Amino acid sequence: MELPYAESWKIKMVEPIRKSTREQREQWLKDAYYNVFQLKADQVYIDCLTDSGTGAMSDRQWAALMTGDESYAGARSFYELKETINRITGFEYVIPTHQGRAAENVLFSALVKSGDIVPGNSHFDTTKGHIESRHAFAVDCTVDEAKDTQLEAPFKGNVDLVKLENVLKSNADKVPFIIVTITNNTAGGQPVSLENIKAVRKLADKYGKRVILDSARFAENAYFIKMREKGYADLTIKEICLEIFRNADGMTMSAKKDGLVNMGGFIATRHEDWYEAAKAFCIPFEGYLTYGGMNGRDMAALAVGLDENTEFEMLHTRIHQVGYLAKKLDEYGVPYQRPAGGHAIFVDASLILTNVPKEEFPAQTLTVELYKEAGVRGCEIGYILADRDPVTRENRFDGLDFVRLAIPRRTYTDNHMDVIAVALKNVYDRREQITKGLKIVWEAELMRHFTVKLEPIV
Ligand code: F0G
Repeated sequence: MELPYAESWKIKMVEPIRKSTREQREQWLKDAYYNVFQLKADQVYIDCLTDSGTGAMSDRQWAALMTGDESYAGARSFYELKETINRITGFEYVIPTHQGRAAENVLFSALVKSGDIVPGNSHFDTTKGHIESRHAFAVDCTVDEAKDTQLEAPFKGNVDLVKLENVLKSNADKVPFIIVTITNNTAGGQPVSLENIKAVRKLADKYGKRVILDSARFAENAYFIKMREKGYADLTIKEICLEIFRNADGMTMSAKKDGLVNMGGFIATRHEDWYEAAKAFCIPFEGYLTYGGMNGRDMAALAVGLDENTEFEMLHTRIHQVGYLAKKLDEYGVPYQRPAGGHAIFVDASLILTNVPKEEFPAQTLTVELYKEAGVRGCEIGYILADRDPVTRENRFDGLDFVRLAIPRRTYTDNHMDVIAVALKNVYDRREQITKGLKIVWEAELMRHFTVKLEPIV
């Protein structure tokens, strides 16, 4: 008999988590205005709000914390981190920042100006925010395959080359760079193929443009290339990473994902002019160049994390677990963005709560129902997150309406996945009876999902 698959690590330290009753959860939800961001983490049993900064560090990372060098300038930990990034990405210049959006802030301060156009594949909301706050435009050139959640395709995160070339053709002088997000979070943690990255490079060269990779989940993307793309099966993850970054000019990184740390980020590039320009913004916004918003100990732990997470076994364990949850949902017939992505399952609420009108926010309603069912906290990536149109102030109902179940790295076991799957099945089985959703009673003008106040429609 073939041996079953098991994790490539064992557990050395545990953190108790607590169950609650449905009555408690109903009260807590009411107190939180039906917005799961407003819950206390102690009120959550299994937390799938995000995979960002919520993973478990390894014993080697904890050991590295103790050897961190907290010197203001020239810390040894910075040089350890820089050497690791140089080796994994091939980029020579490195600026640490406190997280991914800070890397965007520093680099875009140098590169993006009013009226610019930045094409890419489903810019993450902070990326888009840092473009739009500079009165520039983020143009989404993701492949249309990503919109059909039931379509099985290996690289639904790809850039549509025709859409990209149209932007470049008509507005080449306004494009400061192209940004490719790997994996494509917003489209469902879907990977981008190396063939696509190379084609973007070619187009960029044709129009004399540079390419930035938003690399929060670059290692997971490399894993999918190895497993799904012809010609890469025999390469190591580190070899594939080098091949990915060879086709880009620079990267912004939220190290809270594939860096396996709880906080941190960086910019890396091969171009001295970008480095020089970004330096000027790092010092006032983030801090001096050899720490830029990070503790020395955190840079030391990040260096170890980057090395660990660019090894096949680590990634295989992680993505195997996301796939395990997907298989359970297949068993129960619960629809999600197919195939399962790298960091999360994106449950397609529009195919489940068909009796809840879109004006009543089906994905948010499903998020609330799932929490009530079992204390599992997911996150709406749908109509509330999409905010209102800045001009008409109408809700934007043209995108997808997902509940994202993000899986923290090395944190939960497959038993927890079973609980999540059954909780969702129970809600799914009574989907016909759920006919009323939620209404907004207060919202912020931008990024409303964090603080929105909702009420059930009765
Ligand atoms: N880019 C991508 C693709 C991301 O997913 C995120 C964060 C960022 C940039 C910003 O990084 O949080 O370190 O400032 N995503 C988190 C999430 C918040 O839950 O998906 P950050």
